[in-house]
Amino acid sequence: GEILHFLADPAKVAEEESYQYFEDGLLLIKNGLVVAVGNATDLLATLPVGLEVTQYDNGLIMPGFIDTHVHYPQTEMIASYGAQLLEWLENYTFPEEKQFSDFEHGKRVAEFFLTQLLDAGTTTALVFGTVHKESVDAFFTIAQQKKLRMICGKVLMNQNCPEDLQDTTESGYTDSKALIEKWHNTDRLQYAITPRFAPTCSTEQLHKAGELLKEYPGVYLHTHLSENKNEIAWVSELFPDSDGYLDVYDKSNLLGRRSIFAHGVHLHDHECQRLSETNSAIAFCPTSNLFLGSGCFNLKQAEEFDVNVGLGTDIGAGTSFSMLTTLNEAYKTQQLRGDKLSPFKSFYLATLGGAVALDLEGTIGNFTKGAEADFIVLDYQATPLMARRIARCKTLTEKLFVLSILGDDRHVKATHIMGEKV
Ligand code: GUN
Ligand code: FE
Repeated sequence: GEILHFLADPAKVAEEESYQYFEDGLLLIKNGLVVAVGNATDLLATLPVGLEVTQYDNGLIMPGFIDTHVHYPQTEMIASYGAQLLEWLENYTFPEEKQFSDFEHGKRVAEFFLTQLLDAGTTTALVFGTVHKESVDAFFTIAQQKKLRMICGKVLMNQNCPEDLQDTTESGYTDSKALIEKWHNTDRLQYAITPRFAPTCSTEQLHKAGELLKEYPGVYLHTHLSENKNEIAWVSELFPDSDGYLDVYDKSNLLGRRSIFAHGVHLHDHECQRLSETNSAIAFCPTSNLFLGSGCFNLKQAEEFDVNVGLGTDIGAGTSFSMLTTLNEAYKTQQLRGDKLSPFKSFYLATLGGAVALDLEGTIGNFTKGAEADFIVLDYQATPLMARRIARCKTLTEKLFVLSILGDDRHVKATHIMGEKV
């Protein structure tokens, strides 16, 4: 079948140099890793006879999608009515998260969550747990069984939230440390230190998170940033000595190559500058930003300042597990701003862009030699409307655009993990 993958950001190089596309392609895999990708006829000629070949017709093979911001404990509260961020957290999110002190409950939800991700073609995600260390044990236990590359962390939150959902600076630090020792770099699992967001963390807790980050190079930092206007106003009340929202994190040494900030819908230029010079990344979560009425992310500003950007579903504030559906809404948020999101940039964001944001370029996100063979097959024939609309497309650009607007989990025909179909 057709194969597409990216080598660079289409916004940074000539678009046609940003990707490789093979109309009749072959992906060669050995021991779960990519050996080569290329034109089928050319590549087959170089290979010994008798190799196992799986053929996908009428499909498009591409690297598995990468979801750079999602909350697994919020799976079952998706589509909760009528609130913007702060009220939504109070009314729906905090009560839901209380259940995750129970390891067995966590495992049940993790199992369902990961099945949903794989069905939607997502093979790696950066995932919030809850405040309970059991929630992360449960998540990693299931992710390990499924042989997935996943990043997760226990939420740090010691103020401005229900008391029975709070840790302390000390317990948050100790529990995180124990989880890092237990899980970080076990198989394909990695840990993210996860302060919920500035309002629910004392300055001491944020400082302690910064210390932990320094103690464990290679561990991630995952939090929320400048999502909602009331939230931003609250942060400036709570942290009067800081020069804006990002500076609260900066003062605790939380910025860096493996730091991912969800949303960043309302960022000042100087904040983009700071994200860029520290090589930090933003997770762009369009379905969530629309659902909670948070605003439309300024992708153009992020590009101007050369900030790494990945795409996130942000389930349960986001409304779909599908990165294709997420691309659809991403396009519309940019339309509302008067900006264009090109189909190549879209699929870059969903694959290699996510890998770059997570500092995993070369490991996942494209078919470079030695990369882990987590890939998906998209099926143009899965729905009658898609089939008819694709039949009219004259260019790859057009086809990708149609896929990004009409596509969803129905169009994911197969998901392969380390080469194996699941
Ligand atoms: N900010 C702090 N916590 C959350 C959360 O759970 N979801 C979203 N979207 N934003 C947050
Ligand atoms: Fe979130």
